[in-house]
Amino acid sequence: MRVKKLFITMTTWLLALFFFAFNTPYLRAEKEKAFYVGMDKCKECHPEHVDSYLSWKYARNFRVIQMRKKDHDHGCLPCHTTGFGKTGGFVSVEKTPRMVNKQCESCHGPASLHLKAPTRLEHQKTLSIPKNICTNCHSGHKHPGY
Ligand code: HEC
Ligand code: HEC
Ligand code: HEC
Ligand code: HEC
Repeated sequence: MRVKKLFITMTTWLLALFFFAFNTPYLRAEKEKAFYVGMDKCKECHPEHVDSYLSWKYARNFRVIQMRKKDHDHGCLPCHTTGFGKTGGFVSVEKTPRMVNKQCESCHGPASLHLKAPTRLEHQKTLSIPKNICTNCHSGHKHPGY
C-alpha cells in the first residue's frame, strides 16, 4: 500500500513539473522555430566572417564527398552539409545546392529569426555559440565510414 501511495505522489509531482516546464515563456517562444537559411544570407552583414570562412580550405570540402560518390549517402551528410534533415537545411545536392558543406549555421544554429531580428540585442539573442557544438561532428579520433 505504502509503495503505491508513494508512486502516486511521485507521478503527480512529475506531472506538475512537466506542466510548469512546458508552460514557461521560454518554451512558448520556442514554438516559433528558427529554420536554416544558408551562408549567402550572412554576407550582407558579416562580410568579413564569410570571406574568412570561405578562405579556409576545409569549408568547401564537399567536392571530396562527391568525388567519392558519397553525396547521397545519409551516413555522411549530417556532418558534411548544413542542417541536414531539418527545416530549410540540406535535402540533396539537386534540391539544395547552397547547403552543401558545413557553414555558419552548422555551428551557430538556424538563423531565420536572426535575419528578422529588429534590434542589435535581438540579433545577439537569436544566435549563439552553443557549448559542445564541435563534438556533434568531431566525435572522436576515428572517422566513421572510410
Ligand atoms: C541584417 C543584418 C544581419 C544578417 C543578415 C546577419 N546578421 Fe548576424 N548579427 C547581426 C547583428 C547586428 C549582430 C550583433 C552584433 C554585435 O553584437 O556587435 C549579429 C550577431 C551575430 C552573431 C553573434 C551572436 C552573439 O552571441 O552575440 C552571430 C554568431 C551571427 N550574427 C551569425 C550570423 C549568421 C550565421 C548569419 C547568416 C545566416 C547572420 N548572422 C546574418 C546582423 C546580421
Ligand atoms: C560524425 C560526423 C561525420 C560523419 C557522419 C562523416 N564525417 Fe567525414 N569528417 C568529419 C569531420 C569532423 C572531419 C574533419 C576532421 C577529421 O578528419 O576527422 C571529416 C573529414 C572528412 C574527410 C577529409 C576531408 C579533408 O580534406 O581532410 C573526408 C574525405 C570525409 N570526411 C568523408 C566522409 C564520408 C565519405 C562520410 C560518409 C561515409 C563521412 N565523411 C561521414 C565528420 C564526419
Ligand atoms: C566551426 C564552427 C563555426 C563556423 C562554421 C562558424 N563560426 Fe562563427 N563562431 C564560432 C565560434 C566558436 C565563435 C566564438 C569565438 C570567436 O569569437 O572567435 C564564433 C563567433 C562568431 C561571431 C561573433 C564574434 C565575432 O567574431 O564577431 C559572429 C558574428 C560569427 N561567428 C559569424 C559567423 C559566420 C557569418 C559564419 C559563416 C561564414 C560563421 N560564424 C561560421 C564558430 C563557428
Ligand atoms: C556540422 C558538423 C561540424 C561541426 C558542428 C564542427 N565541425 Fe569542424 N569540421 C567538420 C568537417 C566535415 C570537417 C572536414 C572538412 C570538410 O570536409 O568539410 C571539419 C574540419 C575542421 C577542422 C580542420 C580539420 C582538422 O581536423 O584539423 C578544424 C580545426 C575544425 N573542423 C574545428 C571545429 C571546431 C573548433 C568546431 C566547433 C566550434 C567545429 N569544427 C564544429 C564538421 C564540423
